[in-house]
Amino acid sequence: MPKRIMANRDFEHIVDTSDEWIIQRTGIRQRHIAGDDETTASLGEEAARNAIASAGLEPNDIDLIVLATSTPDNTFPATAVDIQNRLGIRHGAAFDMQAVCSGFIYALTTADLYIRGGMAQRALVIGAETFSRLLDWEDRTTCVLFGDGAGAVVVEASEGAGLTSDTGIIAAKLRSDGCHKSKLYVDGGPSTTKTVGHLRMQGREVFRHAVGMITDVIEDSFSVAGISAEDIDWFVPHQANRRIIEASAKKLGIADEKVVVTVDRHGNTSAASVPLALSVAVADGRIKKGDMVLLEAMGGGFTWGAILVRW
Ligand code: UT7
Repeated sequence: MPKRIMANRDFEHIVDTSDEWIIQRTGIRQRHIAGDDETTASLGEEAARNAIASAGLEPNDIDLIVLATSTPDNTFPATAVDIQNRLGIRHGAAFDMQAVCSGFIYALTTADLYIRGGMAQRALVIGAETFSRLLDWEDRTTCVLFGDGAGAVVVEASEGAGLTSDTGIIAAKLRSDGCHKSKLYVDGGPSTTKTVGHLRMQGREVFRHAVGMITDVIEDSFSVAGISAEDIDWFVPHQANRRIIEASAKKLGIADEKVVVTVDRHGNTSAASVPLALSVAVADGRIKKGDMVLLEAMGGGFTWGAILVRW
């Protein structure tokens, strides 16, 4: 996480908002905001080093890096290549994936398929964002919602029996529907305005679709795996809004105590939110080896998806 923390009260001097409104509508209490010396690459590098160390590996054991981000350091090259260089890796491949808040789900699914296809042995999957740089700090409907940060995991090839008791990714489902593109977008880009642009969102419209899309894709992942909600030990959802998380868990029949919530501390960190929530629940001992973990995200595009992982 970036060093600087911004509390809800800090917004009361910038826009017409209140701590009470933000907590009641979103569950957010604070978020981290990147300083001048912190970028998507530097945050991503730190998360990557932590993930590699906790896997008991060295950077050179990694032969694939997939970075989920919508806030790259430069339009090109991919920020993943910069992180590869910072880690001192000269072999394998590195690239960015852009699916906004669903980016980590897309990136982890992609890495899983590279490994299953024999293209990689050990993949580093990173979600890293500096959304504060895309925000319109005069728009109270968006600037209070997002934060910066990075999280990462390492996935490696191993033989399984094709059962849900296997370790690793059991099932993944991805969806997108571009008819919703104007509900959550950035109003700039290299081929149009030649600027970076600012994030624009019809929050109520996103909210209206979120719970249905999230629960549909999760039910699809359950049927691919042949499991049901009772088999889930931990639900690690995208952290956009506490109300969306609670409504999704309720609709699926997942008990509150199995839901990992970090939106209060991190705000919405887009592609970083799921790996950050995972890292919190692993560090505090909730997620343990053998647990069935359900990951989910939904965001701009719209894109959405779910992954079932046997930890
Ligand atoms: O990660 C990608 C996915 N993104 C999301 O999941 C976001 C989904 N959307 C949401 O989480 C919610 O829609 C929001 C948190 C963005 C907004 O909550 P809401 O309950 O849908 O509120 P609203 O947009 O219907 O706005 C209610 C009122 C409005 O005032 P009027 O028109 O009723 O007078 C807004 O202008 O709240 C006002 N408002 C604010 N008031 C104080 C909007 N933003 C603020 C604010 N402070 N920051």
